[in-house]
Amino acid sequence: MADRVLILGGTEEARALAAALAGGGIAAPVTALAGRTAEPAAVAGAVRIGGFGGPAGLAEHLRDGGYAALVDATHPFARQISAHAAEAARTAAVPRLALVRPAWEPGARDRWIEAADEAGAAAALGDLGLPGESAVFLALGRQRVAAFAEVPGLRFVLRTVDPIEPPWPGCRTVVGRGPFDEAAERTLLETESVAAMACRNSGGGSGRAKLDAARALGLPVVMIRRPPPPEPPVVASVAEATVWLSERLRR
Ligand SMILES: NC(=O)c1ccc[n+]([C@@H]2O[C@H](COP(=O)([O-])OP(=O)(O)OC[C@H]3O[C@@H](n4cnc5c(N)ncnc54)[C@H](OP(=O)(O)O)[C@@H]3O)[C@@H](O)[C@H]2O)c1
Repeated sequence: MADRVLILGGTEEARALAAALAGGGIAAPVTALAGRTAEPAAVAGAVRIGGFGGPAGLAEHLRDGGYAALVDATHPFARQISAHAAEAARTAAVPRLALVRPAWEPGARDRWIEAADEAGAAAALGDLGLPGESAVFLALGRQRVAAFAEVPGLRFVLRTVDPIEPPWPGCRTVVGRGPFDEAAERTLLETESVAAMACRNSGGGSGRAKLDAARALGLPVVMIRRPPPPEPPVVASVAEATVWLSERLRR
């Protein structure tokens, strides 16, 4: 029987890794999801939903589940679970790898303004001097938008995976789930008369489409920098993660 690998998921890369492991007979993947999305995208192999109760709970889960390895393939901004993964793997003496997709880099025609966090991004938007009532597209998690409610004179358009009530009166919500493409992103920005965008440097293929659309329209983008990466070993692609696992698992 193939070794069990626990994948901390919630990303495109985690789904692709589960498919590669299951499809290639390399391992039996179990993908853990935090349970934030009402209808998560389908994943190859087994899925478990919900937190572990901190690093001690995750360590216990790793031991009890007889896992041969742990891959932290969570979002680059999901800092807490990544720290828990590293600590739990040490405690349970289970090999652990972090899979973190590369950050986006600005091209020559991109108009990016970097910010350290959401509060910094809100301040940077205020400093842009946009005309009153300009619309700003927020490609951010709904839990992270509170700072923008304080920016005077701007309207916001927030995109969420699941429908939600507008978090404040000056914020419209639109529902959208990736993958996205540049043409559709451009249509959205034009339809909503967007004058600027704020997002985090999540990286990844389909998230890039909104940045390409912003560049095509000449819009400024306030880009929130990534937090420090998880502790090593860290790889940047599903292919590298598959090789790392293949070298450690029995077939
Ligand atoms: N942060 C983002 O912008 C973002 C974007 C897209 C997708 N996601 C995905 O959404 C999930 C939650 O992200 P977050 O930023 O809220 O995480 P976080 O702040 O780092 O984690 C908060 C808590 O949620 C639980 N948790 C997080 N990821 C989990 C997973 N994959 N499986 C089981 N439990 C998990 C853990 O609870 P316990 O301590 O109880 O174990 C963790 O302590 C992650 O799977 C991430 O990959 C996040």
